Amino acid sequence: MSKGTVLVTGAAGYIGSHAVLALLEAGWEVVAVDDLSSGARWLVPETVEFIHQDVAERRRMVQVLGDYRCRAVLHFAGSIVVSESVADPLKYYRNNVGGSLALIEACAAADVTRFIFSSSAAVYGEPLRVPVDEDAPTNPINPYGATKLIAEWMLRDAAALGLRHMALRYFNVAGADPSGRSGQLSLEATHLIKIACEAAANKRPGVTVFGTDYETPDGTCIRDYIHVSDLATAHVAALDHLMAGGPSLTLNCGYGHGASVRQVLAAVERAAGVPLEVGEGPRRPGDPARLVADSGRMRRLLAWTPEHDDLDAIVASALAWERNTKDR
Ligand code: UFG
Repeated sequence: MSKGTVLVTGAAGYIGSHAVLALLEAGWEVVAVDDLSSGARWLVPETVEFIHQDVAERRRMVQVLGDYRCRAVLHFAGSIVVSESVADPLKYYRNNVGGSLALIEACAAADVTRFIFSSSAAVYGEPLRVPVDEDAPTNPINPYGATKLIAEWMLRDAAALGLRHMALRYFNVAGADPSGRSGQLSLEATHLIKIACEAAANKRPGVTVFGTDYETPDGTCIRDYIHVSDLATAHVAALDHLMAGGPSLTLNCGYGHGASVRQVLAAVERAAGVPLEVGEGPRRPGDPARLVADSGRMRRLLAWTPEHDDLDAIVASALAWERNTKDR
């Protein structure tokens, strides 16, 4: 039996499309909204109601929320490239702050009181302590992180209007749906696992390690890579929490342990069965040496058990997707 309908923005994007699959599997009906500025319609199952729309069109969003009697909103739409946010900051304020504001206003107008927001570990900037927990100071060091934090504040303050929310701070999201229904499509990838898999699939000549002189065991940066399908089920658990009347929460979404750039590249080589062309370059500005989640709060407060907490499995799914798609 259907649990009701939820609105998913950014549903044709990488994480949004995986969340749609997880929501359908959990018995939800989905109304998918995406302006297709970076997403692809075919990543959303054909059976799902799809609305080609920018979330900033507040009046249209009010109408959609009402027409489909949406019980909650999962807001994935937004701009996500850190370097672009430095070069074109106002685009990030427009899409991530303006878009979120319009959607929150639409929820208030349509009496939708549950909201799940895609936030980011970028709100922490360069954390003073690692693993970083949710009470650590927020100190974003680029417009991307700043706009995610502002949206969190808007949601916090919208509690006065009766809105309850979950701010899910993603660490490094990677991998692809294990049965190949969705994955990351990006013409100008910046993420390490995507780039390394493109190299392994002969879509680019090789991969460059950005910095080998960090204070880490092998000199390269450490990140907490979470499989996108586990992140998707975390959203379903977050929705269950709000549906059960639970309070607003801010939660780190990572596994609580990290892998270095070199460890990631070794995993890609294992999955591919061939060596990669690996070069070494200077540090990329703004990269902290270690970024690992303290994921204790999410594990305690959500009914969520990760199923893909394994770097080799993450990389194998990403590589299978890369080999099976022709987006480059
Ligand atoms: N890296 C390389 N070579 C590459 C690409 C990346 O060595 O070609 C390194 C980076 O320097 C970094 C690590 O791989 O040390 C991971 O880099 P990603 O670009 O894959 O991911 P980030 O950690 O930079 O970004 C992630 C999220 C962002 C978020 C940020 C918060 O993807 O959305 O964490 O700090 F903003």
